[in-house]
Amino acid sequence: MTRILHIDRIRYTKEQIMDAVDSLRSGGTVVFPTETVYGLGALAENADACRKIFTAKGRPSDNPLIVHISSMDQFASVSDPKEDRWVQDLERVWPGPLTVVVKKRDGIPDIVTAGLPTVAVRMPDDEIAHDLIEMAGPIAAPSANISTRPSITDSKDAIRFLDGRVDVIIDAGPTRFGIESTIIDLTRKPIELLRPGSYTIEDLEPVFGHIVYGEVARGLGEAKVAITPGMKYRHYSPSTKLILAETRDLFEEILPYSPEDMVILATIEMERPGRRTIVLGTDKDLYTVAHNLFSSFIALDDMHAGYALIHPFEERGIGFAIMNRIRKASYRTVKDVREFLDLIGSMKEKVN
Ligand code: TXA
Ligand code: MG
Repeated sequence: MTRILHIDRIRYTKEQIMDAVDSLRSGGTVVFPTETVYGLGALAENADACRKIFTAKGRPSDNPLIVHISSMDQFASVSDPKEDRWVQDLERVWPGPLTVVVKKRDGIPDIVTAGLPTVAVRMPDDEIAHDLIEMAGPIAAPSANISTRPSITDSKDAIRFLDGRVDVIIDAGPTRFGIESTIIDLTRKPIELLRPGSYTIEDLEPVFGHIVYGEVARGLGEAKVAITPGMKYRHYSPSTKLILAETRDLFEEILPYSPEDMVILATIEMERPGRRTIVLGTDKDLYTVAHNLFSSFIALDDMHAGYALIHPFEERGIGFAIMNRIRKASYRTVKDVREFLDLIGSMKEKVN
């Protein structure tokens, strides 16, 4: 039986999450809010409890977890002593939506790190997450979605998809950013971006210096096991086949040819009256798009359409993270109208 703790953030006090703290201490699993997306956690020191996370999510066990901390003392307790050289830099960005990969301290269970010599660590900027971690200890947690499905950015979806699969769900409404944390690997020289997220490269370079990235960070291609184990899996996918137009011009060119029943995912500026549209936010503030993206994928599946069309965003600032998620969620990227029509044609044939 899952216990659901309903929290009104305005009246929130620590007492309201004691049930979650007790559950973690006794080896249970808890779904909790962070400023990015909801996490599905267990105490990082408890290997048996962490194993339950993989069962609840249907996650492959060679995909490592993020250890969530609430203080620099806890950072020292999970990372190799040499990594304290990063403390000053980390204090400038934490708490916040950044995960760093560092050498791990001996004793972190293999189930948390998938047997790697490194551990991913982050200090979330959310009052409830902070209190939970402070009272219970470091929490190992992936995003709280079922494996490969869109991440969960609102507790109503956590309840919908995870009730019965975990011990406690903290029901605290929508998250602030809606896109997962940025991940950088501090064990590499130069520092490498593994996943773009809510902190932009432009935010991070003044603190950490030059950061490099490859195709994987753009959401193109899949990582080899040896480089970044967690990046080799398909992610975020709605069940509906999402088609990405390579450019905005192409998106507009395609629209008149697209079937009536096709759902359009677009910003308010790109919306077309009379079409079934899910509005993603506004081009004037791409953080609105980041905030709505995953919930839009869930809303899309609720419409039970066969396919949907989405336009791209400029890969700058938060747009970089948005494009990574859209690419990973898309079934196909089309480069011209012909390719689009062929694709739709082949999909219809399969249905008939
Ligand atoms: O915002 C977030 O980061 C959310 C909230 C809950 O904190 N968490 C999250 O976790 O997105 P998850 O598991 O969905 O994504 C973490 C990624 C995975 O792709 C995993 O493979 C990678 O981090 N990762 C974890 N440990 C790693 C390591 N030692 N080296 C490289 N990648 C690692
Ligand atoms: Mg995830």
